[in-house]
Amino acid sequence: MRIHILTLFPSMFNGPLSESMLKRAQDKGIIEIHLHNIRDYAHDRHGTADDYPYGGSPGMLMKPEPIFEATEAVQELIRRGRGQEAVFSASVILLSPQGRLFSQSLAQDLATRDDIILICGHYEGVDDRVREHLVTDEISIGDYVLTGGELAAMVIVDSVGRLIPGVLGSQESVLDDSIASGLLQYPQYTRPAVYRDWAVPDILLSGNHKEIAQWRIQQSLMKTLKHRPDLLPRATLTEEAQRLLEAIRADSET
Ligand code: ADE
Repeated sequence: MRIHILTLFPSMFNGPLSESMLKRAQDKGIIEIHLHNIRDYAHDRHGTADDYPYGGSPGMLMKPEPIFEATEAVQELIRRGRGQEAVFSASVILLSPQGRLFSQSLAQDLATRDDIILICGHYEGVDDRVREHLVTDEISIGDYVLTGGELAAMVIVDSVGRLIPGVLGSQESVLDDSIASGLLQYPQYTRPAVYRDWAVPDILLSGNHKEIAQWRIQQSLMKTLKHRPDLLPRATLTEEAQRLLEAIRADSET
């Protein structure tokens, strides 16, 4: 998979892309991440990428020309590498707080693509013609406002990257993901079995795999019910999980 990131601040990506999982994935050739500086496509020698909004309002907007031309240059690179068809299938995603909310299922969808283009907005936003005539999707990572789309792009690259086969040590850890199953993760512990008088639950030391599996489902359900009850209606529960959930609910009513 190739991820193309269009940004005014390419050096912000140095740390996150050169450590840990994303570094390994790039070293193994599973993911290519290409950074493109939007300022390189500015029309003046000062590299101006922003301007005042028409109609007057506070702050500056990103100008359309550098964003269109940077994106078209990247599309041309994709076309040269893989042909015309590839360009039409490459999503052009604008990161902004106005976009649809990012989620695990959106990450799973993006992980199936060969090329994605991420455009990091900045200042008070981007000229709306970018939205109207260039991007195929607009994504927000949450209902809060960041200073720019760079951190949002890093979140997306990280969560999409770890879903690509071969990036994590074992695909099992992806299958076991809390949110992927629709529930929050059950508690996990490692050695020592007792730390500062706090003991690991006995069941996990019992060696009884059937009971451990049931305890984990029960814990996931209880945690989800407490912290994210909104996830439950969309979760796919086995018959056993459904039964356990009913028992937990009945228990809490008494
Ligand atoms: N840019 C600024 N805020 C953002 C957000 N919440 N998500 C994506 N991009 C952003």
